[in-house]
Amino acid sequence: MQIYTFKTDRELDEAGAGIVISLLRSVPGASLGLATGQTPVGVYEELVKAYRKGHISFKKVNTYNLDEYRGVGKKDPRSFYAFMHQHLFQHIDLPEEQIHIPDGEAEDVILECNRYDALLGNVRQLDLQILGIGLNGHIGFNEPNFRLSYGTHAVILSEETRRVNSSFFHSLEEVPEQAITMGVGAIMKAKKILFIARGEKKAEIVHRALTGPITTECPASLLQLHPDVIVLLDEGAGKLIG
Ligand code: F6R
Repeated sequence: MQIYTFKTDRELDEAGAGIVISLLRSVPGASLGLATGQTPVGVYEELVKAYRKGHISFKKVNTYNLDEYRGVGKKDPRSFYAFMHQHLFQHIDLPEEQIHIPDGEAEDVILECNRYDALLGNVRQLDLQILGIGLNGHIGFNEPNFRLSYGTHAVILSEETRRVNSSFFHSLEEVPEQAITMGVGAIMKAKKILFIARGEKKAEIVHRALTGPITTECPASLLQLHPDVIVLLDEGAGKLIG
């Protein structure tokens, strides 16, 4: 595990984007696992800049998002599908058919999870998985539990996760109670993981995840077992890391 701490968001974003850019230069048809949330937004902005300067192309890339809310349609601005379009997809040359996100509106959730797992199975191994971390240690929406799931599955979101994500909604009641998430299997199988955390409020959970016991009660702690994780932290999130 390589851990880097940055003084400014900009340096962190450039470093994060730099990792994606060098991957796309050596593997133009890379498969990228993507995250939503506040954490990767600046990295996506840097990728858009690099694309506009002609430094990279996404024409041959396939993307696989970690998760989607249940009951929130693609056209709903609060969906992760809309989020990804707003922050990345609409600004780059990634063909629509190469974008993969669980369908939050699928009537049969088990079929949808199987469909997503089949897609991931075809890829076998994502070249790079971008990850943020929830305040409770979740990765994707794999919430702390006495056991974790290997494959894509429907989850009941914790109260804390819904509260944190409520800033995208008018009220806490509006935040969906369930989501579909990639399991820890696909995440851990990725060749490389780019794990990013920002802000002092994440310091404790980052410390627990990276240095504490490996436990399903802190799903991000599993990353300690992965052979190639790059950790990018700002000074706040890295405060407790020596
Ligand atoms: C997002 C995701 C989540 C977030 C995490 C942190 O697709 O799967 O695990 O990475 O909740 O969210 P932010 O970045 O908003 O602090």
